[in-house]
Amino acid sequence: MGVNPTSLLDKRLPLFPISTRVVDDRLTIAGLSLDDLADKFGTPLYLYEQATLDASVDSYTGSLEKAYPGTSGITYAGKAYLSLAMAQWTQQRGLHLDCTGEGEIFLAYTSGVPRNHILVHGVNKSLYDLQAALSYAGTLVVDNLDELRQIFQMRMDYSSMPDLWLRLRPGLSVQTHSYTQTGQEDSKFGFSPAELLEAVHICQLESLPLTGLHFHQGSHFHDPTPIGPALETALDLIEEASISLGWKPRVLSPGGGWSIPYHEDDLPHQPVENYVGYIAEKLIAGCKQRGLPLPHLQLEPGRSIVAKAGVAIYRVNCIKTTTNRRWLLLDGGLADNPRPALYRARYSALPTRCPDRPAIGPAWFGGPYCESGDILIEDLPMADIQPGERVAIPVSGAYQLSMGSNYNGARKPAVLWLSGGQALLIQRRENLDDLIRRDFRLS
Ligand code: LLP
Repeated sequence: MGVNPTSLLDKRLPLFPISTRVVDDRLTIAGLSLDDLADKFGTPLYLYEQATLDASVDSYTGSLEKAYPGTSGITYAGKAYLSLAMAQWTQQRGLHLDCTGEGEIFLAYTSGVPRNHILVHGVNKSLYDLQAALSYAGTLVVDNLDELRQIFQMRMDYSSMPDLWLRLRPGLSVQTHSYTQTGQEDSKFGFSPAELLEAVHICQLESLPLTGLHFHQGSHFHDPTPIGPALETALDLIEEASISLGWKPRVLSPGGGWSIPYHEDDLPHQPVENYVGYIAEKLIAGCKQRGLPLPHLQLEPGRSIVAKAGVAIYRVNCIKTTTNRRWLLLDGGLADNPRPALYRARYSALPTRCPDRPAIGPAWFGGPYCESGDILIEDLPMADIQPGERVAIPVSGAYQLSMGSNYNGARKPAVLWLSGGQALLIQRRENLDDLIRRDFRLS
């Protein structure tokens, strides 16, 4: 059958995991009907398809092999979504795992990630974060001078030290929502160039194992060009540190942040290859110009690894028509996906049953929470949906569950892992007891 460019199904299918098909009028992923999964596990239900996760890693490794002649590697930014199963999968794929603080380090360690694959990030790390990093991490990315001094004081208590990298604040951000920009001069993240040189000097005086330089300019950007000037700033600094202090990093990490399409209006989208190719080209040219050796290049993607592999399935509980809107009121929203409320993120959706139905007009998808901002999708052309039907929202794998909450007593959804035609429960749905697990009575 040919592709009909006006069909909602044909427009939206590319947003879903790669094995998504329509079989007997049902949306299926990895050969499994989303309706059957919802019947069995309830809704809201999240799933991750392993084939799509694997394909996203392959696109990074393939692009690096093609574009960068030096050594390279990939660190998955666990803040996008982390669970024991996801951490295990990162090791099947040979990735490093970026953990923010003690909590994520605990998860990584518990799932069996080896020390040399645990990398720790964090602005304003607590004492506990640093203790966990010194105990379990292979790499610790230092954010500021106070933190560096604290590490220096703590190191006597540890038999081995992680490698240290310094996080540069290059003074230039990428184009994205202001809440996800991090590289600009007034950002709270990282060292200024002058502070960074001071940090190199301290590491030398204190014989700390300083091996890397890192920067991350922001998240969810579509245009890689602001990385060029940031790389230039980093290479200028390296040149200066090399001349004045005799230090050069073995590893250079320009962070992560590459975007992916969330909505059919975001298509077509530049492939990862363009982003990786841009970084490689600038780095090779910049090193050549300065007579510097090519560093090991370590990329740090989160969203572009997991977002497309994830799908959220909701039940349409009721339908309401107001003067200007058709509301589809779902059984989930803000508590499992705060991104529309935080960043006005745009999503799309398909019904799980007969997803090729034509649109009858726009719909607004609201959640069950006591917030007028609890709207997952605004103004999306949609079929004639009936109460009790389910809708599937694609590109739900990043920064949704990891930023979820228990607002209004919401219980965090169940999460499935789809692979080899099987659905494995990797996180059970929270229950009522979970809501009072931490509580003590007054008497
Ligand atoms: N490296 C560092 C140091 C980071 O802070 C981040 C994301 C990443 C890598 C991965 O960035 P990614 O490839 O996933 O874009 N909650 C926001 C995104 C916050 C990103 C935080 N840092 C959202 O939902 O869009």
